Amino acid sequence: MEQIKKGQRLILFPLPFQGHINPMLELANVLYFRGFSITIIHTNFNSLNPSTHPHFTFHSIPDGLSETETSTNNPLLLLSCLNAHCCDPFRNCLANLLSDDGSEEPIACLITDPLFDFTRSVAKSLKLPRMLLRTGGASSTIVYAAFPLLWEKGYLPKQESQLEEPVVELSPLKVKDLPMMNSCDPQGYYQFITEMVNEIKTSDGIIFNTSEDLEEQALTTIRQEFHIPIFPIGPFHKWFPTSYSNSLLSEDESCISWLNTKAPKSVVYVSFGSIAAINEAQFLEIAWGLANTNQPFLWVVRPGLIQGSEWLEKLPQGYLEALNEKGHTVKWAPQKKVLAHPAVGLFWTHNGWNSTLESISEGVPMVCMPNFTDQMVNARYVTDVWRVGLQLENGIERGEIEKTIRKLIAEKEGEEIKDNMSKLKEKTNLSLREGGSSYQSLNGLVNHILSL
Ligand code: UDX
Repeated sequence: MEQIKKGQRLILFPLPFQGHINPMLELANVLYFRGFSITIIHTNFNSLNPSTHPHFTFHSIPDGLSETETSTNNPLLLLSCLNAHCCDPFRNCLANLLSDDGSEEPIACLITDPLFDFTRSVAKSLKLPRMLLRTGGASSTIVYAAFPLLWEKGYLPKQESQLEEPVVELSPLKVKDLPMMNSCDPQGYYQFITEMVNEIKTSDGIIFNTSEDLEEQALTTIRQEFHIPIFPIGPFHKWFPTSYSNSLLSEDESCISWLNTKAPKSVVYVSFGSIAAINEAQFLEIAWGLANTNQPFLWVVRPGLIQGSEWLEKLPQGYLEALNEKGHTVKWAPQKKVLAHPAVGLFWTHNGWNSTLESISEGVPMVCMPNFTDQMVNARYVTDVWRVGLQLENGIERGEIEKTIRKLIAEKEGEEIKDNMSKLKEKTNLSLREGGSSYQSLNGLVNHILSL
């Protein structure tokens, strides 16, 4: 993409979590190459590294988080602390940028995350247009927007006895797929989601990391219900080759040379994103399930993934040695490079939206093991709408793991899934080409920003 000078500056303010930072910085690059200058405001917590993006200007703000708050394993609590502490520092930073009438270009708008609940009032008080990037998919967004209905009809809060029942208003979802968080009190979570939806509805437009070709129906529903401009311009990371990393943890490149030694499409890549956690028993079922398939596997065991463990110390002694180079573990992988590697044939994922989209963009079928919130909706779409993966429906158990991976790699059902996936990959990536839906939507977005 060639940069066209438009002489306007955009301020981007990402939520400081990996799954939100990645798409926001990718979006920043997309808009930079369409001629905008970019300023990023970020919190000290999960601070960004300006040297990876020398063409952007970075401003860090204090977030006032205590050590106890940053080390909590309750993401909702952390979010509410961020929302409570960041408002004033953010307002001051933004006001300074706006009052700086030096050489910098005029500021066209703020682009931020709907999970920040204070940016609407700040932007309004400073008379700055505010657009949002929804880092999850459109399909999960319509489920969040339907929360009042889901409550009214008794689907939520979830009852153990109803988990397998269909949600007829949101087919093909089942009650168990509704995006809740086990650790949260349902009323507090309902309030939190209602606020997020309200943030979106009161914005000057919403950008999605998806494409019309992938989520047409959900995007149509959003257009009907939200009455704001909608711009699906994804997959963001496929707009340009990425040579930089936005990872908060350092990426272990050793896995690429390990992958180079493996046969095409033979490797199962296993990663559950940046937040999901499992217990020790589940960790051991995964370890044995993978070993029993006899397929090579690359497994990201993030520090903190296993509750109560530092890293691999709960693995049985000699486990990796016995696999004789068939299994490789890292703390954090260069995931996009891994998924694009010819040796990777399958992605066992928690179905965070970024991972799901990255897998589709590279045409890698998925084993789905959603953990919380939108991941359950994404996984149902993978298995029942796009039919590009299989879900571990009955929990984490070694026999089930082995059976599911075998089905995908060696059986007829797997062949159909691979076929669906290669068509979906092509359709999704084509949307970025001239005349494609995301291409057109990006033109619309640029014009929209310039008109604000
Ligand atoms: C969270 C939520 O869980 C998810 O459901 C929501 O849609 C976004 O925020 P996370 O759980 O981290 O994100 O998952 P995901 O959305 O998949 O994002 C993880 C990102 O980290 C991906 O871009 C992935 O490429 C990257 N990653 C992951 C790495 O670069 N290396 C790894 O080893 C693992």
